[in-house]
Amino acid sequence: MSNNSMTLTDNRNGKSYEFPILDGSVGPSVVDMSSLYKQTGMFSYDEGLTSTAVCKSDITYIDGEQGLLMHRGYPIDWLAENKRFLDVVHLLLYKELPDEKRYENFKYELKKRSFIHEGMHKLFDAFPDDAHPMAVMQAAVSSLSTFYPDHLNMDIKEEYMEMAARIIAKIPTIAASAYRHKNGFPAAYPNLDRGFTENFLYMLRTYPYDHVELRPIEVKSLDTVFMLHIDHEQNASTSTVRSVGSTHAHPYSCISAGIGALWGHAHGGANEGVIRMLEQIGTVDRVDEFIKKAKDKNDPFRLMGFGHRVYKNLDPRAKALKKLRDQLIDEIGIDTNLIKVASRIEEIALSDEYFVKRNLYPNVDFHSGLILKALGIPNEMFAVLFVIGRTPGWIAQWIELKEQESLKIVRPRQLYVGSKLKI
Ligand code: ACO
Repeated sequence: MSNNSMTLTDNRNGKSYEFPILDGSVGPSVVDMSSLYKQTGMFSYDEGLTSTAVCKSDITYIDGEQGLLMHRGYPIDWLAENKRFLDVVHLLLYKELPDEKRYENFKYELKKRSFIHEGMHKLFDAFPDDAHPMAVMQAAVSSLSTFYPDHLNMDIKEEYMEMAARIIAKIPTIAASAYRHKNGFPAAYPNLDRGFTENFLYMLRTYPYDHVELRPIEVKSLDTVFMLHIDHEQNASTSTVRSVGSTHAHPYSCISAGIGALWGHAHGGANEGVIRMLEQIGTVDRVDEFIKKAKDKNDPFRLMGFGHRVYKNLDPRAKALKKLRDQLIDEIGIDTNLIKVASRIEEIALSDEYFVKRNLYPNVDFHSGLILKALGIPNEMFAVLFVIGRTPGWIAQWIELKEQESLKIVRPRQLYVGSKLKI
């Protein structure tokens, strides 16, 4: 029996089986159960995969107890304080932070791929005016493989890295086009004099013959929101991207599937929920009533933007955003009622025994909703902005999957509880 193993005993017959224990660089070790069926004829059962590591990864590490999130060894609060979104995109794709020359080259590579095929505008025209921008995003990203059918050989590294840059570069243009189409605005083209995040805000706001003035604090805030959403290890949308990728599907299909998963209100829709909740509460004098509702077990109301499945301490992304949120609000202003309501909720929840005992801290969505609101971004675009931030993370995870030694199709098993053979 090896020291680094775990023995499982079947109490029905006393038989024992041995499974290796694998250690990561930090964090919990894992029991390698891949031979479970071969050894025992049984599967493991883990609904929601709450105790199952599905891959090896060196991109992101989270310690929810400590409130630590790091990408390739760099803590997110340090990155948010010292780096730009594209630095972190480079870090995820190329495994290192760029120096200034590489940063500029990378920025240029993305810029020149930011235009979308003119034919795509016909696609936007075909959708009803009230189509949700996330549905339009998903369809448009999927359609990229019809507009750009070259580079379908994904076995050559240069080709798939070019594909990666192409998707990351075009996503903001697609997002802005979905928004503009919905609002009946004329199509906008990327402005090559502007950086990645600045250009996206420009494409949302530009109008013919109108000069778009963007304040540095607006660009910095949105850049940070993108960065804080870039990757969060094997969450629902990322594991969707990996599952679809495991079939050797094209990355456009993988990203489109990831967008579908992110659209679910349990995943990408929480910051929209925060704003809806703050608007529903309306004034500070009603906060106590809603706190009472949140604590009432018979009431389904939950304080949106509080608590997290993984973080049982301060969400480090929330810490970084709160500072920016306050700066942004000081400089450009926002509906002060919303801010007062949010501040009062935070004050109560951080001292109330119910929230303290359950480790319910403000999460990233609590602050990002207010930042996006202050930037004048409509609620239905919130999840779309999450897509822009998360796409480089999905792509980095797709590249990691592609480059692993043996790529196994994701094919979970089940516990069948239906009818036995009837005839
Ligand atoms: N308001 C009031 N009570 C809450 C809240 C909340 N926001 N979140 C959890 N609780 C309570 C639960 O009722 C439960 O109480 P109990 O122990 O007395 O039964 C306890 O805290 C533990 O809650 P769980 O649901 O078991 O915690 P879990 O880790 O499964 O849930 C989740 C995490 C889903 C995020 C939850 O906290 C929640 O619904 N929060 C509000 C929605 C939200 O902000 N989602 C965004 C998450 S961040 C992201 O996805 C990027």
